[in-house]
Amino acid sequence: MTGDSLGRPLRDLRISITDRCNFRCDYCMPPEIFGPGYEFLPKNQILSFEDIIMLVKAMLPLGLEKVRITGGEPLLRKDIAVLISMIRECDYGLDIALTTNGSLLSRHAEKLANSGLDRVTVRLDAIEDEIVRDISNSSISSSDIIRGVEAAIKYGLAVKINTVVIKDYNEHQIIPITEQFYQMGVTVRFIEYMDVGGTKNWNPQQVVFGEEIRTIIASKYGKLKPVKQQKYGQVAKRWSLNNGYEIGFIESISKPFCQSCTRARISANGKLYTCLFSEHGHDLKSLITMGADITDLRDAVIALWSKRNDRYSEVRTIRKLETRPVEMHFIGG
Ligand code: GTP
Ligand code: 5AD
Ligand code: SF4
Ligand code: SF4
Repeated sequence: MTGDSLGRPLRDLRISITDRCNFRCDYCMPPEIFGPGYEFLPKNQILSFEDIIMLVKAMLPLGLEKVRITGGEPLLRKDIAVLISMIRECDYGLDIALTTNGSLLSRHAEKLANSGLDRVTVRLDAIEDEIVRDISNSSISSSDIIRGVEAAIKYGLAVKINTVVIKDYNEHQIIPITEQFYQMGVTVRFIEYMDVGGTKNWNPQQVVFGEEIRTIIASKYGKLKPVKQQKYGQVAKRWSLNNGYEIGFIESISKPFCQSCTRARISANGKLYTCLFSEHGHDLKSLITMGADITDLRDAVIALWSKRNDRYSEVRTIRKLETRPVEMHFIGG
């Protein structure tokens, strides 16, 4: 397959394996909406491991290089290590990653590493516990999450930290986060706060641009230099400190990267989304239920991908206000 209608290949598949999460981050699953009465997807609507394997096998020959398991919180799904080992058996060269909030990582790290997972990305927006708890609406502390990161490193998983920066809220945590993970030798990526999915009351004034974040970091560590070689389709642009430590910046507001977007997303109930900001997904689980085999699924994906023309981040300013993108916890960001 040559690519979508803008010539972009399909290289990166992100699969959400649950719409549930044990946190209630204000920008993703605000507790007012995702309270005790909220109805999550029933089990029979969630992709089974067998469904997921069919989808991976359908897409591998199209040039898939990376599979990222997301949620909600993927570590809430029972037997996740079994799923990872099933994906690993499909292709020994595939890059398999998992995005997690880190709260259950110390418990799962060893079996995840043994199952063939390559790496984990842990979201952590602050070191100060008051902010960690306030953002996540949970009783977690940053040291619980850091323990999870240590466990992942101990068992040989590569680790990255994702930090969403929100103006007048956690900007003052940029230095403590950098300090903490520089000392641990773990890459941090700072993310511009986006108007995505369940984000309530997002407004452009809350965005801290990558350039501003670099200025804050430079005030303590000296000027950052952009790293030259960057891979096609890479979301985070890397910059390095004088001592060689690299920090990533995901600047989808100030420097959209749709031009080289190679990502397909599958929601927990098996719909294919060709953009993080898509309003509608294409129901692949129903095709499986109706008896589609791997070849049928591949043909369906080729048909959808070849028509793909999404580039939301590049055109967000002219987005119609009434559009309602899919919820983030549903397709895992
Ligand atoms: P690596 O494989 O480690 O390079 O991961 P990645 O950067 O592809 O993925 P990750 O899940 O860590 O992405 C980090 C964050 O970047 C996401 O949580 C989103 O906030 C944002 N992001 C990722 N992909 C996209 C995308 O396609 N569009 C936009 N607008 N933002 C994205
Ligand atoms: N803007 C940027 N990143 C977000 N994430 C969730 N909501 C937003 C948003 N509005 C990130 C999380 C995590 C990933 C799943 O998506 O912090 O890293
Ligand atoms: Fe927070 Fe991630 Fe859970 Fe959303 S899925 S509520 S961002 S921990
Ligand atoms: Fe890809 Fe859509 Fe994000 Fe652009 S906005 S980078 S097309 S997912």
